[in-house]
Amino acid sequence: MIDTDTAGDDVTAMLFGLLWPDVALEAVTVCCGNVYLEQATRNALNTVEVAGRPDVPVYAGAARPLVRDLVTAHYVHGPDGMGGANFPEPTPSLAEGHAVDALIELSRRHAGELEIIAQAPLTNIALALLLDPELPSRVRRLWVMGGSNNRLGNITPAAEFNFYVDPEAAHLVLAAGFELTLVPWDLCIDYGILLRDELRPVLDMRTKLSEFYLQVNRSVWEFSTKAEGGSIDGISHPDSLMMAMAIEHNLILETRDCFVDVEYSSELTRGYSLVDLNAVLHKPSNATVVTRVDRDRFKAMLFELLSRS
Ligand code: BDR
Ligand code: CA
Repeated sequence: MIDTDTAGDDVTAMLFGLLWPDVALEAVTVCCGNVYLEQATRNALNTVEVAGRPDVPVYAGAARPLVRDLVTAHYVHGPDGMGGANFPEPTPSLAEGHAVDALIELSRRHAGELEIIAQAPLTNIALALLLDPELPSRVRRLWVMGGSNNRLGNITPAAEFNFYVDPEAAHLVLAAGFELTLVPWDLCIDYGILLRDELRPVLDMRTKLSEFYLQVNRSVWEFSTKAEGGSIDGISHPDSLMMAMAIEHNLILETRDCFVDVEYSSELTRGYSLVDLNAVLHKPSNATVVTRVDRDRFKAMLFELLSRS
């Protein structure tokens, strides 16, 4: 299942889950984050519709972080989170029930088999844990896009967006005992950005999915070209890079098992992810941190996905 604050690259990650052969996507749960919950659920429904997969249930989850006010990323992804495309009202409707109940139910139905692709602030996963502390024992793997491995963040120098928005949730989830793979922001910077020249085949594809991808990522592309402190003429893929790894494990070339925690009591470094690469804290490892990825294979997978008509 995918937990998403649907906007920008969340959509591409969903397309992988919805359309890649042999992936059984059981559900999409939605959390606030990039945009408000209502918009994020609408964007998720638009995505299942475009993918021709209205059979996949989409559940609405948390409308705000555990204790903080919501901070959004409209400034990155546009007013609708979809590059300003303003897609029409989706035809599929939301599934009944709360995302957190759905997550717990799925973990029971598929005990030992369910993998969760967490590509949003971790509020829904933390709420599920609070309701059901045994959850980690039933989940085969929790994939988390969040934090930064001893490198700069994106929303502040200290923090990556998902961990910044709900640092308390990230702290709870990291400490809960999941089999957890962490895909940090710096990995996306190194391996998950496709530059204008590389995107040429996508610009020329003119399939329904390539056009959808380009529309949805229009604002983030514009934002990246104007970013203070280093403009990048390309599209970033933090969530879809993680999804591709979850689908094809051989994309992962190197990992480190480490203790990871998140700062939630300082305002200056709110959401900072401490990744103890040298084990100086002598704490047991709680995360497998991905440090190197097969970028060419990721690119090939993305092009393969988008060229489907
Ligand atoms: C993360 O924040 C969101 O804006 C993206 O969807 C991604 O999950 C990157 O920091
Ligand atoms: Ca996301």
